[in-house]
Order: sequence, then C-alpha cells, then structure tokens
Amino acid sequence: MVITIDGAAGVGKSSTAKELAKRLGYQYFDTGAMYRAVTFYFLAENVDLESNNQVTKSLDSIKLHIDFSFDKEMRIFLDDEDISLKIRSQEVTSTVSIVSAIKEVRDKMVKIQRSFAENGNFVVEGRDIGTVVFPDAEHKFFLQADYDVRAKRRLADFEKINEAKNINEIKKDLEKRDKYDSTRKLSPLKIPNNATIVDTTFCSFDDQVNQILKHIEKMNER
Ligand code: DC
Repeated sequence: MVITIDGAAGVGKSSTAKELAKRLGYQYFDTGAMYRAVTFYFLAENVDLESNNQVTKSLDSIKLHIDFSFDKEMRIFLDDEDISLKIRSQEVTSTVSIVSAIKEVRDKMVKIQRSFAENGNFVVEGRDIGTVVFPDAEHKFFLQADYDVRAKRRLADFEKINEAKNINEIKKDLEKRDKYDSTRKLSPLKIPNNATIVDTTFCSFDDQVNQILKHIEKMNER
C-alpha cells in the first residue's frame, strides 16, 4: 500500500511522512532525495544540463542505490558512498529544480519509484507522487504552509548540515523554486485529484500527523 504526500519545499512533508511511516510501520520514501542525488552526480561529473546526449549518457552510468534497511531511514548511495547528507547542500539545492525538469531524469526516477513500491508499504513524499507516480493511491495528501514558516523550517535544515544561511535568501530561493516546480511542463507540482489538503502553517507537528492519521482511519472504516 502507498500513501502519497506531496507539497512544496518546507511545508513539513519529510518530518510528517517519516513520523507517519513510523507510526504505521510503513517504509518512508523520499523521492526528492533521488532527484538531489542525480543532481549531485551531474555536478560532480560536470554534465552540461543543456546537452541531451550528456544527460542520457550520465543517466546510463549512474550507480544509485537506495537502502531502506537503516532502521526505517532511507539512505541514498552513489557507487558505495552514502551521500544522504551531501545532497542537502546549497549547490545541489539550487540546481535540482533544473535537473528534475528533464524528461529522461523523471522517466528513470519514476520507474524506480514504482518498482520499489510494488514490494511493501510505503509513505512516499514528493511533488508528483499523487498526480503521476501513484495516481491511484488510496490515501493522498497535499501539504501547504505560508512562506515565513517554510523559510524558518528550511533554515533549521541548513543549520543541521552547518551551512550558514540568511532567512530572506531562503525565502527568495523557495519562491523561485516553487515557481519553477509548479510551472514546469513535466509533472508540475499541483494538488492531486482526490487529495486531502493539510495546511501546516499553524499546526504543531503532532497536530498535523494526527490529522492525517485520523483521516486515514476514517477512510479505512468506510
Ligand atoms: O523535496 P526536496 O526539496 O528534497 O526536492 C528536491 C527537488 O526535487 C525539488 O526542487 C523538486 C524535485 N522533485 C520532483 O520534481 N519530484 C519529486 N517527486 C520530488 C522532488
């Protein structure tokens, strides 16, 4: 079974999806990490993102490995290196929207995402999970929050990896990424059909998780 959680950056998707997965005994699946890992690889290999040929070749040679065995955490490896933290850098963050708008990249990632979810129960978070990857999922959620709250959450994320950032800079970056992610031609960020919208601006973390859990319980009773 798949539960989908879509939404923009900083709306609380990751923490919510992780907690939901923990409480339900499901596996947490962060699809943004996959687009970040591809971006990390393209940057390391100096791939020209405008060159279809280079992008395709690189996608053929990339050795990505996703590991779900770390106590319900999802870790992502490039060759044998755990890059789960490195993919959170500013350099990757500011390039990932461009990489995730490339058709060949999306095709490959979506295929991998679907193949994983065939075997088990997953809470999958991303931008196109309820619209494109698993449109028939039983439980679909769309999270949203206002820009100030989102920027504060992102600032805390950067502090975790010791990157000093300015809150206004983060806000601008969020606005730019939102515009890019929701207006791109392929799989733009939008509310999936039949999804439940959860606004996390004024919600405590526990409230937002409980709200979703209650909704799932109610739907399952039907
Ligand atoms: O959730 P995140 O910030 O780690 O996602 C990184 C980028 O990946 C984000 O800018 C949009 C893209 N993404 C996507 O296009 N589709 C997904 N399913 C997940 C993320």
